[in-house]
Amino acid sequence: MKVPFLDLSLQHKAIREPALAALTATYDATRFCLGKDVEDFEKAFAATLGYPRALGMNSGTAPLHVACMIAGFGPGDEVVTAPFTFISSAWGINYVGATPVFADVEEGTFNLDPAKLAAAITPRTKGIIVVHLFGQPARMDEIMAIAKQHGLFVIEDCAQAVGARYHGTPVGTIGDVGTFSFYPTKNLGGCGEGGAFVSHREEVHTQARHIRVHGSDRRYYHDIVGGNFRMDGFQGALLNVKLPHLAGWTARRQAIAARYLAEIPLADSRLPEQPAYGKSVFHQFTIRHPRRDALREHLTKREVGTDLIYPVPLHLQKCYANLGRGPGSFPVAEKAAATCVSLPIFPELTDEQVGHVIASINQF
Ligand SMILES: Cc1ncc(COP(=O)(O)O)c(C=O)c1O
Repeated sequence: MKVPFLDLSLQHKAIREPALAALTATYDATRFCLGKDVEDFEKAFAATLGYPRALGMNSGTAPLHVACMIAGFGPGDEVVTAPFTFISSAWGINYVGATPVFADVEEGTFNLDPAKLAAAITPRTKGIIVVHLFGQPARMDEIMAIAKQHGLFVIEDCAQAVGARYHGTPVGTIGDVGTFSFYPTKNLGGCGEGGAFVSHREEVHTQARHIRVHGSDRRYYHDIVGGNFRMDGFQGALLNVKLPHLAGWTARRQAIAARYLAEIPLADSRLPEQPAYGKSVFHQFTIRHPRRDALREHLTKREVGTDLIYPVPLHLQKCYANLGRGPGSFPVAEKAAATCVSLPIFPELTDEQVGHVIASINQF
């Protein structure tokens, strides 16, 4: 039995008619940049967070960049983030000339370890970028307490965690800014690039709205330095069709994860920890295994797709060699990179396919 790591075509086949109707309407109305579809999506998406407003942007990297601009990070400033994440979590820090500083992650959740975060703070620290990796909320109470103590700006990178809740509160609404990605492979994916910026701080929202359109509130008048971070109309149109399905898709991801957690009792592997404070939306289901590469080879032979997310932690990427944090600097992140393997987890997997993944791992 074939079990692909991810097959986006199934979801798009299921919503083909309403999706093409929505995209056609956008095409016919030439609503190509922002416009009604994006506005409708912003309202509906904001409502899922209990917010009156959100800003559609043109990737998940864009709101991180915009948030770093608004936070006022700059040369000489340090911003702390996790070394075990997608590179984009850190890019915004570089874009504004500040310096990324890493703090190691927890073994169980792969998220920022509050004790390591506290130890990474210096007089130059200006902010924290918290990543809710693989859909699992990070320990926000401890992280926010550290931020408050030092007066730090907190950006929540929710690219992988749309819909996840921390003690019942949606992630992205706890820090100063929440950022989301609608890259096609995400839990809520567009038909191209997309992202969102949210903030409970009205002045921050307004600044982001201006920065999104070249620092402008009135055409051809530019009060602040901005850029082009606009969401395109097609993304708004497709996301409007998809958003009502998100809760159901998330529940299906959680049901698959529940089976993996219950039925993969490998003594020498580690399953992702499920802390009581928050429920993961399982963007990934990532296990650790000391013979990871052999396990992966075995799964490939059994036609089970897997992926290595992520094979190299950020501090060991060539682009960050200048930071001088060599091997051994963040042992938990390094161990994760060396032993992790991500299993198929997408809503359209059948129970039989899930059973095949479990049986194949247990056979190994
Ligand atoms: C944790 C994390 N942050 C940021 C991003 C950036 O999102 P995008 O690819 O939409 O720019 C991604 C997605 O790829 C991500 O996984």
